Amino acid sequence: MESSFWLLLVLIATLAIMHIIQAQDQEGFISLDCGLPEDELSPYTEPYTKLNFSSDVTFIQSGKTAKIPVDVLTPYTTIRYFPDGIRNCYNLNVQMGDNYLIRASFIYGNYDGRNRIPFFDIYLGANLWATILYLDAQNGRRVDILHIPTSNLLQICLVKTGETTPLISALELRPMGNDSYITKSGSLQLEYCYYLSKSGSDIRYSSDIYDRIWVSYFQTEYWTQISTDLDVVSSNKHAIPKDVLKNAATPTNASAPLTIKWSPDHPDDQYYYYAHFAEIQDLQANETREFNVLWNGVHQSGPFIPRKRIIDTIFSTLPQLCEGGECSFQLIRTKRSTLPPLLNAFEYYKVVKFTQTETDESDVRAIKSIAATYAMNRISWQGDPCVPQQFMWDGLNCTSTDISVPPRITTLNLSSCDLTGSIADAIRNLTQLETIDLSNNNLTGRVPDFLGNMKLLSVINLTGNNLDGSIPQALQREGLKLFVEGNPRLCFSDSCIKPHKKKIVVPVVASVASAAIVIAILVLFFVLRNKKSTILQGQPRKSRMKLKFANKNSRRFTYSEVIQMTNNFQRVLGKGGCGMVYHGTVNGSDQVAVKVFSQSSAQGYKEFKAEVDLLVRVHHTNLVILVGYCYEGDHLALVYEFLPNGDLKQHLSGKRGRPIINWSVRLQIALDTALGLEYLHIGCTPPMVHRDVKTANILLDENFKAKLADFGLSRSFQCRGESQEPTVIAGTIGYLDPEYYRTGRLAEKSDVYSYGVVLLEMITNQPVISKECNIAEWVGSTLNQSDITEVMDPNLGGVYETNSAWRALELAMSCADPISSKRPTMSQVIIELKECIACENTRMNINQGLESQ
Ligand SMILES: *[C@@H]1O[C@H](CO)[C@@H](O)[C@H](O)[C@H]1NC(C)=O
Ligand SMILES: *[C@@H]1O[C@H](CO)[C@@H](O)[C@H](O)[C@H]1NC(C)=O
Ligand SMILES: *[C@@H]1O[C@H](CO)[C@@H](O)[C@H](O)[C@H]1NC(C)=O
Ligand SMILES: *[C@@H]1O[C@H](CO)[C@@H](O)[C@H](O)[C@H]1NC(C)=O
Ligand SMILES: *[C@@H]1O[C@H](CO)[C@@H](O)[C@H](O)[C@H]1NC(C)=O
Ligand SMILES: *[C@@H]1O[C@H](CO)[C@@H](O)[C@H](O)[C@H]1NC(C)=O
Ligand SMILES: *[C@@H]1O[C@H](CO)[C@@H](O)[C@H](O)[C@H]1NC(C)=O
Ligand SMILES: *[C@@H]1O[C@H](CO)[C@@H](O)[C@H](O)[C@H]1NC(C)=O
Ligand SMILES: *[C@@H]1O[C@H](CO)[C@@H](O)[C@H](O)[C@H]1NC(C)=O
Repeated sequence: MESSFWLLLVLIATLAIMHIIQAQDQEGFISLDCGLPEDELSPYTEPYTKLNFSSDVTFIQSGKTAKIPVDVLTPYTTIRYFPDGIRNCYNLNVQMGDNYLIRASFIYGNYDGRNRIPFFDIYLGANLWATILYLDAQNGRRVDILHIPTSNLLQICLVKTGETTPLISALELRPMGNDSYITKSGSLQLEYCYYLSKSGSDIRYSSDIYDRIWVSYFQTEYWTQISTDLDVVSSNKHAIPKDVLKNAATPTNASAPLTIKWSPDHPDDQYYYYAHFAEIQDLQANETREFNVLWNGVHQSGPFIPRKRIIDTIFSTLPQLCEGGECSFQLIRTKRSTLPPLLNAFEYYKVVKFTQTETDESDVRAIKSIAATYAMNRISWQGDPCVPQQFMWDGLNCTSTDISVPPRITTLNLSSCDLTGSIADAIRNLTQLETIDLSNNNLTGRVPDFLGNMKLLSVINLTGNNLDGSIPQALQREGLKLFVEGNPRLCFSDSCIKPHKKKIVVPVVASVASAAIVIAILVLFFVLRNKKSTILQGQPRKSRMKLKFANKNSRRFTYSEVIQMTNNFQRVLGKGGCGMVYHGTVNGSDQVAVKVFSQSSAQGYKEFKAEVDLLVRVHHTNLVILVGYCYEGDHLALVYEFLPNGDLKQHLSGKRGRPIINWSVRLQIALDTALGLEYLHIGCTPPMVHRDVKTANILLDENFKAKLADFGLSRSFQCRGESQEPTVIAGTIGYLDPEYYRTGRLAEKSDVYSYGVVLLEMITNQPVISKECNIAEWVGSTLNQSDITEVMDPNLGGVYETNSAWRALELAMSCADPISSKRPTMSQVIIELKECIACENTRMNINQGLESQ
């Protein structure tokens, strides 16, 4: 049966189209002359068909071109061949859901002078369409299929299956509309499209508006040809060319049936046939032509009388099997018929089932966009990205559970691909992505926020690039493994800001500052060691109880203990500067907050351990206690005491869903915070600077006692650890001392500034920074125009002692003075705050007195 495919394409070049009707518009046609250079030759109008053929250059990225020797007679003088890669694909835009006639032509023509006939496969998207074999060098092979694309992207791929090199001569697409040639399932691979005539020439465009190629076919031994010069009405949806219908065959033996037979390739092959009839003879009154249609000897339809010069089509509505290894279509005249049956044209198609669903179209578009962004030129990155599995693109992995479900891309691995530029925006459209590896490239710019919103993403490897900025908060979530080592300019916390202009100053000062912190901690450690008992006596009962963690046997946890204590990271408390914070329990009942770092710092284990060993001993009632730590391979975690009332920021914003804390509690929190800071500033010499005082770092215990968290711990070894040279000034925009930002000189007065901002926030509940105006400026300008009630947090409902409010406000404003020398010390702040509290208490006593009366 294979031989019935062979077609002498050379014939097409020599055939005379009988009537060239007025040129139909070739709307939606794609006619590619493969290998044609994209110059003045393209597009050209083929003289016989008047079809406009163009170069294929813009439809395929790979392959080489060659000319067919001049002595080979072919309509296509060039070819594209594919010495590289296994699968090479054309990309065509189509209308999903429409039926297309897709035609591919292959003429070897001994273009390589090797006389070696190639064989290979052709795929439509993810599915094998046909295997292409040749008989000899001169003859071509053509395959046609009626196919309804399931996406708007149609990929036609040539796949190498052996030693020989695939090639292609022409690729043509013709939209067929979608009301004919519709099957129950499967596409229709053309076997034959006959018009019954002895002419020996083919009929195609523009006689046929769909450009089917009608091949003349005649069994001269059995048939007699009849013809007409009159027009036949061809009005049915199959749009059969009038030229096709001007001829018909009838059996020469008037009582014999008209039979068309063929053998299927495989016993299971199924067929659809389309038989076209019109009476083209002038019948006498006493003459009739009536017949039945039989398939393999079984009656299919009829009796049927062809209408006079009007087309009728009889076709199978279900796929037909050929039993006994033979397919036979027969017309048998009825008893009352005076004339033999007649047939004008006959088509039959084999059903090809494309079972492999193609990759989700939005994934395909996204990955192609990514490939385009990075000008990736991988030979394997052609055709469907995921299927068939053996051709899956390098660096991808996909879901592949069920061939009837479109695969989705789950892994994108572009490690070591020389990528430059920023992280491609189109990645956001790979919505099922679980793993992304962009390591060892030269990517620049920021880590985009959208990565954090990709819910399924669990591994992100950005190691070894040149990214900068800070890592979005959204990426610091549970279950997400983020690897960012080797990005010297990247910072972990959102507290990073742009590198300082006076670049040289900053690293020097900052490293001095960091050294100062280490020294401060060292000193603090010895001071504490010596004074431990005294300090202990000063602790409230609760803290003393928790101190059991902070003794010399401070715990080092294994990672599995961390997993166990957090119940596999079940409950997220929040996001810290450098990682997620989870709830946990140790010793069965003591609650802890576990901060899990996204990745180990570049700093060595020794330094880390030394630092943690010191930090676990830092202790003050208004500083969060470090219970222990974990350092195991890539896993870094710090275990803190758990503070059930969360952070001050949540309370002020109302996010805790609880009543907003009242004025007197706010003052107490301000005092607690001030005490904690004072301890850092003067409880040890040289002074230790917190560097990141903000409402989010003030935690509240069950009695709303405030404790300062994140006191230089994590940042001092984490964010700095990314590179040897700290290039960023640490702090959070809005809280950052402008003088420190300007000079890079770090002093405890920077904490005072931040504290002032915190105090202003607690008084006013305004954003710390908005539209080029910071909170202090806002308070100043509001007070110039109106009184204190305008600046006070409306959530307080006016319930505060005005005098205490004024004092607190003035204190806050002096703390937030742009000039550091004008700011008070924390000790002065504490004295002033205590007086504020005294004022407020007077008011409360009076109120209570009034109520009891
Ligand atoms: C075919 O191409 C010729 C130029 O090569 C152009 O003039 C003509 O309009 C085109 N016809 C169609 C139907 O596109
Ligand atoms: C035919 O195609 C149109 C547009 O492409 C589509 O809306 C319609 O559902 C299709 N009809 C059938 C029977 O497939
Ligand atoms: C004509 O066909 C009939 C029916 O098939 C057959 O019986 C008869 O022998 C045929 N005649 C000739 C001359 O072949
Ligand atoms: C039909 O009628 C014509 C004369 O009008 C006659 O010659 C012919 O034999 C008839 N044919 C049949 C089948 O009766
Ligand atoms: C791709 O994913 C499948 C599961 O969908 C897994 O079995 C396979 O190992 C993965 N392949 C690679 C190369 O990661
Ligand atoms: C990505 O591919 C590289 C090799 O090209 C491999 O070493 C690395 O493990 C892969 N990454 C992932 C996440 O599979
Ligand atoms: C992502 O998909 C949307 C919708 O399909 C599209 O509009 C957008 O252009 C795509 N984004 C990128 C970067 O490809
Ligand atoms: C991330 O990429 C780097 C560099 O390719 C590699 O060494 C490391 O193992 C990767 N990590 C993971 C988890 O794949
Ligand atoms: C990375 O890119 C930058 C600029 O885009 C360039 O200066 C640098 O040489 C590149 N580095 C590597 C290793 O290619």
